[in-house]
Amino acid sequence: MPDLAATIATIAADMASVTDRGKVADYIPELAGVPLGKFGIAVCTADGAEHIAGDADEPFSIQSVSKLFTLKLALDIQGDALWTRVGREPSGSAFNSIVQLEAERGIPRNPFINAGALIVADVIAEAHDDDRGAIGAILRFLRELAGTRGNPDETIQIDPRVAYSEAATGFRNAALANYMKSFGNLRRPVDEVLQTYFHQCAIAMSCRQLARATRFLSAGGEADGTAIVTPERARRIAALMLTCGHYDASGDFAFRVGLPAKSGVGGGIVAVVPGRASVAVWSPGLGAQGNSVLATLALERLAGAMGWSVF
Ligand code: DON
Repeated sequence: MPDLAATIATIAADMASVTDRGKVADYIPELAGVPLGKFGIAVCTADGAEHIAGDADEPFSIQSVSKLFTLKLALDIQGDALWTRVGREPSGSAFNSIVQLEAERGIPRNPFINAGALIVADVIAEAHDDDRGAIGAILRFLRELAGTRGNPDETIQIDPRVAYSEAATGFRNAALANYMKSFGNLRRPVDEVLQTYFHQCAIAMSCRQLARATRFLSAGGEADGTAIVTPERARRIAALMLTCGHYDASGDFAFRVGLPAKSGVGGGIVAVVPGRASVAVWSPGLGAQGNSVLATLALERLAGAMGWSVF
């Protein structure tokens, strides 16, 4: 078995010299200024070890990686009834596409595209009375998972400039939310749902914190001996990550990396290796479908070197 610490150190060193790093997301103006040269990687293994390299302790905007954690919270609230309001199929369309919603009567294809994540945000806002309650619940859950509760040096916060930037330019998300509201698939007011969603996307976390926060998905639903979800739910969330976690590039990611994973336009990707490890990688340059170019490449190399695959 190759040495994991040495493998990630080599990958981080190799990534430093890659010139084709993609393009930083600029449709959310506050993200446009993030330096393209950043790269971080963190791995938490089943035996409790942590390995990091590069900018692994630098917080970045988690964006759609948040959809993984909000899905877990919404499933706690609604159980399998959630699946009457959002599907479980890959969309084959861009993450912010509206096209399927008309023919499919306001029911998004899956919880990871923006429309699906807005339904999930609606469920959490309804359970916690409003957007403030929902955002508090999401932050508490992430701090608990990442083990930063009560540790002010490491605490997980929302970047208010990113949240404002998203709200000021989020016309497509507003269109998606209004469209689904017209079909009766949103229960709370549109603005409340959008505020919940914009703030969850604007949460800043480091690779180390994200790798810790996804341990439960690689360990049958448990973290530090506590059951976060049942083993069955952990498997099902991982199945959705594999089939839908990279939007219209999910097939290509499964082909190249072979692991369940979730990406965000901040350049983060989290991946789970069932029974073995959780991994978070960050590089802000994106490819055409909005997924980090170098984080994908690094995961492809890591999975290849370690022999990690679900297949
Ligand atoms: O709503 C948006 O467009 C962003 N806040 C999140 C999109 C995203 O991260 C897509 N992921 N690759």
